[in-house]
Amino acid sequence: MSLKCKIPRGTFDILPSESYKWQYITKVFRETSRNFNYREIVTPIFESAGLYERSVGNTSDIVQKEMYKFRDKKGRIFALRPEGTAGIVRAFVENNLDMKNNSSKLYYIGPMFRYERPQKGRYRQHYQYGIENIGSSEPFIDAEVISFGYYFLKKLGLENFKLEINSIGCPNCSQDYNNALVEYYKPYFDDLCQDCKIRIEKNPKRLLDCKVPKCKEISRNAPSMLSYLDDDCREHFDKVQEFLTKINIAFKINPKIVRGLDYYSRTAFEFIDTNLGAQNTLIGGGRYDGLVEQIGGKNIPGIGFAGGFERLILSMETEGVSFGSEQNPDYYLVCLGEKAKDFSLNLLTKIRNAGISVESDFEKKSIKAQMKAADKSNAKYSLILGEDEISQNKIVLKNMKTGDQESILMDNLIEKLH
Ligand code: HAM
Repeated sequence: MSLKCKIPRGTFDILPSESYKWQYITKVFRETSRNFNYREIVTPIFESAGLYERSVGNTSDIVQKEMYKFRDKKGRIFALRPEGTAGIVRAFVENNLDMKNNSSKLYYIGPMFRYERPQKGRYRQHYQYGIENIGSSEPFIDAEVISFGYYFLKKLGLENFKLEINSIGCPNCSQDYNNALVEYYKPYFDDLCQDCKIRIEKNPKRLLDCKVPKCKEISRNAPSMLSYLDDDCREHFDKVQEFLTKINIAFKINPKIVRGLDYYSRTAFEFIDTNLGAQNTLIGGGRYDGLVEQIGGKNIPGIGFAGGFERLILSMETEGVSFGSEQNPDYYLVCLGEKAKDFSLNLLTKIRNAGISVESDFEKKSIKAQMKAADKSNAKYSLILGEDEISQNKIVLKNMKTGDQESILMDNLIEKLH
């Protein structure tokens, strides 16, 4: 007896009955990218593990607990990409994209891998869409990147989401803030979770992000980064708000947004679904002004975001917005008798080569069985071909909804089907 193979925990198949939803979101995302003049970049699914350790950060949950790390046959250590930004910045540096035309506004779509506890909206292999805008520190760009996310969600028909923004400052203003956080949390040290006991030493900002109820409670009165921004960071953040207001994008300032990846500086933002439960961040992003240099490039700033397809689909389903329609054939060819079947081979090729979608089934013999199959395929029309039709050089076109049918000359067929 052969053993049945099972899909790995935290992964899923995108079945044909669901794939049209993914195609629809991809189409709208590509259209939005076109509107904003972002071009696609495709980077490998695995990179050297060191890339993520240096960028996403050694103290982040992603690097500490969630990376799928492996050795290749020569002992080199790689990781399945847990996120897209690091690989894209690596490609930006390696290919000198700052010197090439139209190469600093990049979009990507693809699977990411994180060893997380699977639940609704959180998977071990998940799919992200995202953009990276590398090269400018202008607050105008922050507003533009945020507006991309906003218009994308709007274009999909979503209404129940909100935008939250924050500034997490730069290394210059972070030092004082980190000290203030350590001072604040010290008296509560014994009550903190194990992770936060490490965070307080290695990356105090991450304490604000902890989801453990006790730590959340302690964080409530923690000092806000916004009180520690230096003049440049403050001015930058004010400008981002001013531009968002100018383009009528509503936002809330949430000083608790720190993001779970170490490369961020200044603007951080999230689009949150107001209906979904625990996994409700549709899009997360922010500035990473030091990252290009950290990965071996020039001192070039950047900003971007990414969102998960799975949560977006849940969100769209909850709001009942359309995904367009499922893919069905336009025509279904029904053949009566052997002669018609023979004839149909060339006919199907001719119709398909004219760019028209047609289905047929060589298994089913009776007209009843074939008409049933035509119905099940959801084709709008069936084409019925028997020996009489062949001898008269004709074919019958039947509207599957109304039952109306007409006989048309084979010579006019393609013109008629278009
Ligand atoms: P992130 O917040 O880690 O950011 O992930 C971005 C989005 O991916 C999340 O907001 C969520 O929608 C989705 N997501 C993350 N993990 C999972 C998961 N396990 N299952 C399902 N969905 C998930 C980044 O990855 C950054 N690279 C974003 C960025 C781009 N920042 C600047 N540029």
